Amino acid sequence: MKENQYENFIRFMDHAAEIIGLPYDEYVSLRYPERELKVSLPLRMDDNSIQVFEGYRVQHSTLIGPGKGGIRFHKDVELDDVKALAAMMTFKCAMVNIPFGGAKGGIRVDVSKLSMNEKERLTRRYTSAILPLIGPDKDIPAPDVGTNPQIMNWIMDTYSMTKGYTVRSVVTGKDIEVGGSLGRNEATGKGIMFIILQLLKKMDMDITNTTIAIQGMGNVGSSAARSLYEAGAKIIAVSDVSGGLYNENGLDINDISAFLDQGRNLLSDYPQKPDDKRITNQELLATECDILIPAALQNQITSKNVDTVKAKIIVEGANGPISDRADAILYQRGVTVVPDILANSGGVIVSYCEWVQNIQAHMWSEKEVYATLERILRKAFNQAYKSSKEYECSMRYGAYIVALKKLTGTLKKRGLYP
Ligand SMILES: NC(=O)c1ccc[n+]([C@@H]2O[C@H](COP(=O)([O-])OP(=O)(O)OC[C@H]3O[C@@H](n4cnc5c(N)ncnc54)[C@H](O)[C@@H]3O)[C@@H](O)[C@H]2O)c1
Repeated sequence: MKENQYENFIRFMDHAAEIIGLPYDEYVSLRYPERELKVSLPLRMDDNSIQVFEGYRVQHSTLIGPGKGGIRFHKDVELDDVKALAAMMTFKCAMVNIPFGGAKGGIRVDVSKLSMNEKERLTRRYTSAILPLIGPDKDIPAPDVGTNPQIMNWIMDTYSMTKGYTVRSVVTGKDIEVGGSLGRNEATGKGIMFIILQLLKKMDMDITNTTIAIQGMGNVGSSAARSLYEAGAKIIAVSDVSGGLYNENGLDINDISAFLDQGRNLLSDYPQKPDDKRITNQELLATECDILIPAALQNQITSKNVDTVKAKIIVEGANGPISDRADAILYQRGVTVVPDILANSGGVIVSYCEWVQNIQAHMWSEKEVYATLERILRKAFNQAYKSSKEYECSMRYGAYIVALKKLTGTLKKRGLYP
């Protein structure tokens, strides 16, 4: 049976509340998303037929600021996943202390089957359908699985056309020419690298003696692979939806990345080097390595396969890749897990930088962007780490506690309307 992502989130939050003895009334409102919108999207296909797709936008919380969160185009998107992803965004933004709430959107569509024109029409129709919810002060979408800067450009353009003037700050993750930020594409992967460097320092380990396996070679996985490779790590396994590659002496990440960057290439088509071995995604998750980075989809490590995982450290590049039951087993086994709400927050932090630049009509250098990213992440990592020591719990609960305290503290100060 498929794990329910939203229930998984609730169990994480409830347990964090239990650890700090937080009264139920003080956080119960966070168990429910503020708004859920379901839309149907008729699309004229290139062959002139009409297909109808289902889309969603969920705002879990706008307590701290406008909703913030990506848009996913994937054939398995369901409302419960979108709700869970929106809630994780609330906790992520609170954890790293940026003035956003949490939201998420998606369309249930196999995007690989759409032409570029169909993708554009679907994006514009979806933007129009969720228009009542989004806006620079209300809810600001961004890329996620199956979406990219081009799709963000179309969202910005569609929103601006309905307003009659250009509104750059309505969406982040855009191309530079339409108001994107330098460094946004690499932000999540760079953030993962900064977090890993901090953690290794605490564990007295050196990045150049570290072996890493990465599941997913999309935006997050490939940018993490490149950053870690440049920092001196040995990346011994990578995968995507088509399967994986393994080389105990290290893969040539620059060559693999360059190959994947050309259009819609998959790893299964990569002309492997003589020592590279083909592996499955399950084998990738079971790779003997120091650090495993699941950076594809949710629910990859569950009670069914957790016993096969051999990594000493897991850094959640994806949102929700580990179920709560598997998480508890890993903690008992002494595996250090850096949770999604901290590990992959580099994306939303640089999205925040983009939004600030758009609002101020100003452009920062890449150096300024990365300095801001590193400063925010260093503080967030230290807070989560300290909290896990203080409450003698995992880093996941350390991070959830930091976020929960911030959210419930804000709620208390604002008061409950009416
Ligand atoms: N893009 C961002 O800025 C960002 C920020 C934070 C977190 N995330 C999270 O990171 C994860 C990946 O997002 P992305 O933006 O890199 O998406 P993407 O669409 O760019 O890449 C997804 C990758 O996962 C692979 N994949 C898909 N199904 C798979 C499967 N069953 N097994 C193995 N690999 C599979 C794809 O082939 C692709 O390489 C998601 O959980 C997303 O929510 C993304």
